[in-house]
Amino acid sequence: MTTVEQTHTTHARQEPRRGVPRHVAIIMDGNGRWAQERGLPRTFGHDAGTENIRRIVRAAVELGIEYLTLWAFSTENWNRPADEVQTIISLIARSIERELDELDREGARLRHIGSLGGLDPQLAGAVIGAIERTRDNDRIVLTLAFNYGGRAEILHAVKRLLEDRVDPTTVDEALFAQYLHTHDLPDPDLIVRTAGEFRFSGYLPWQAVYAEYWSAPVNWPDFGANELREAAAVYARRVRKFGGLAPGSTEEAQEPS
Ligand code: FPP
Repeated sequence: MTTVEQTHTTHARQEPRRGVPRHVAIIMDGNGRWAQERGLPRTFGHDAGTENIRRIVRAAVELGIEYLTLWAFSTENWNRPADEVQTIISLIARSIERELDELDREGARLRHIGSLGGLDPQLAGAVIGAIERTRDNDRIVLTLAFNYGGRAEILHAVKRLLEDRVDPTTVDEALFAQYLHTHDLPDPDLIVRTAGEFRFSGYLPWQAVYAEYWSAPVNWPDFGANELREAAAVYARRVRKFGGLAPGSTEEAQEPS
């Protein structure tokens, strides 16, 4: 008997809209550059980046995206100067408080991936409260990756498997996935990183194996509905093979995918 949490089975839509990525995961990059380009302190960029979340959630709902996962703070971000860390953490706390009513009205179900351990108990409580309050919403699942690192997530899963004394012969991909923070989320279809960067930085390393990737050439505060639409349009033109052949392909040999 394992201690894996019960998963929710009510998803927003069973049939994803054609050509629309069901799950988009974004690495919000370039807040600092956005501010510096305007001669402002970096923290202004985080402010603008936080404001941007509201319009991207709206745009995602309009596009029919069912799962939106935003990387707000990585386990490595603790290495930034203390005042910047403090700014980001307070922005997250304030936004949860300020945006919760609106997110709830929009039908967003809030999720968190990462560790709440070691955080200010008031913030951890606010995250848990927001998840609880929105748990029956079904228009979009908004996951905040916060104090999240991909390797940390995998290590956490391995430790829990060992604690549960799971028989190694029963461990397969499906069982392992149940031990990840994302146990109730589908794998991302599209990963977007802003600020023209091409790094994954440990974002969803297990889950992203067959995700399509898009690097947006604008900083996060400038990534609006049009840019999200463009990313979705690029995705719609991609041919996904999941290691097999392209649908309808007659080629005998294809590039590994
Ligand atoms: C990357 O830009 C951005 C971050 C590390 C922080 C993102 C956090 C927020 C937008 C706040 C999130 C709030 C909620 C409610 C989820 P950067 O500072 O690395 O930019 P740079 O690469 O230009 O320096």
